[in-house]
Amino acid sequence: MNILVIGTGYVGATTAILLAKLGANVTGLDLDEGKIKQLQDGILTFYEPGLEPLLQEQLQEGHLTFTTNAMAVEQHEIIFICVGTPSRYDGSTDLSAVRKVAERIGQQMSSPKLVVIKSTVPPGTQKRVKRWIQEKQTKPISFDVVSNPEFLREGNAVYDAFHPDRIIIGSDTEAAGKQVHALFNAIDCPVVLTNPQTAEMIKYASNAFLAAKISYMNELARLCDEIEVSVTTVAEGMGYDPRIGRSFLQAGIGYGGSCFPKDVRSLLSLGAELDTELGILKRVVEVNHSQYRYLMKKVKRKLGLLRGKRIAILGLSFKPETDDLREAPALAVISELMEHGALLKVHDPVAKLPREMQFPSIKSFPTIEETLLGAHAVILCTEWKAYVEGDWESWRRLLTEPYVFDGRNVLNASRLKSLGYHYEGIGAR
Ligand code: UDX
Repeated sequence: MNILVIGTGYVGATTAILLAKLGANVTGLDLDEGKIKQLQDGILTFYEPGLEPLLQEQLQEGHLTFTTNAMAVEQHEIIFICVGTPSRYDGSTDLSAVRKVAERIGQQMSSPKLVVIKSTVPPGTQKRVKRWIQEKQTKPISFDVVSNPEFLREGNAVYDAFHPDRIIIGSDTEAAGKQVHALFNAIDCPVVLTNPQTAEMIKYASNAFLAAKISYMNELARLCDEIEVSVTTVAEGMGYDPRIGRSFLQAGIGYGGSCFPKDVRSLLSLGAELDTELGILKRVVEVNHSQYRYLMKKVKRKLGLLRGKRIAILGLSFKPETDDLREAPALAVISELMEHGALLKVHDPVAKLPREMQFPSIKSFPTIEETLLGAHAVILCTEWKAYVEGDWESWRRLLTEPYVFDGRNVLNASRLKSLGYHYEGIGAR
């Protein structure tokens, strides 16, 4: 079976590799020549543990190729759309890349096609994709457009691709739905076959719910601070209730990444467009936006004037095991500290400080020790293992002042206190 995957970013590259591994002949198409050249050479354009060896394996076995030739549409019966769907300034989703792809499919179509939308798109998009294809067809040829949303977590993409919790397929016809289902036959997990709009809504509703869980705990963490209760222990106690579950109850400086912020905003924008109040989600966003400021208040309260203070930042990426800086709370923390005249020393195992943040008052260091040396305080923004399991006993001697602000509530507070640190978490003690 020949499959074309259009868009070779995070979702596209992972999908192409997965489908090749499952036995299809896959071509990844992207207009970015540099990206395609790198992928042809077996190099991923982003950091994702375990994915590059699979890419190289599939290239070598000849199941996977990459191209910039847009005419490839015609040579494939099955086409996955995996292009980016960024936020517009008003929070709505920019579907222009999806539209371009749909129109190209319509223009080039000379035989029946099965088009699968993997890009995260607002409910109602499948209908629009069908229309965009149809409008560009030069002669009427039958085609199906199926929604098959992606639930990969960055940093866990390989595991998630082969062991998804569920596969969601939204199709207007049973036959097209079954055809998509057959592609994932080798994967053992529940499958929900539904209509396209419902499939699209499942994706948004899932991400928004997870974001809500996080904001709920983040807001409670502020109250826990007031009543001197550990929000971490509260989360543990709550998590044993299977109706609540243990995951996504970790309070901290807020969620980031390419999905939660964008998808919640997009759902809010859809609600506004349809005059439907989504008050809970509005608050989810408000809490998330103010969460890093909550930590910053603690920093200011403890350190006083920040001008000239050396502050070590541990972790830049929005979460561990990725180099992705999109909406990373660490960047908001850094910006605010810089506004107050602090001198920043930053470290991340893989992510690099973005170009627009390269100022003389902020320096990146290759080791944690160099980052901590002479600092008046440490702020942990991303829970990389190297920080959580680090040698805090000897690190204590490197610091000028022993203030530790744990933005992810992952350090052992009582141990750190016994080592002489002044520890501050977010509702953690
Ligand atoms: C998410 C969804 O999990 C995935 O199903 C979807 O396809 C894409 O969006 P991802 O963005 O990779 O995946 O990261 P995820 O692990 O979900 O974390 C998102 C953010 O929430 C991170 O910033 C993380 O630090 C934060 N988070 C997560 C918390 O603050 N507390 C938690 O308990 C869990």
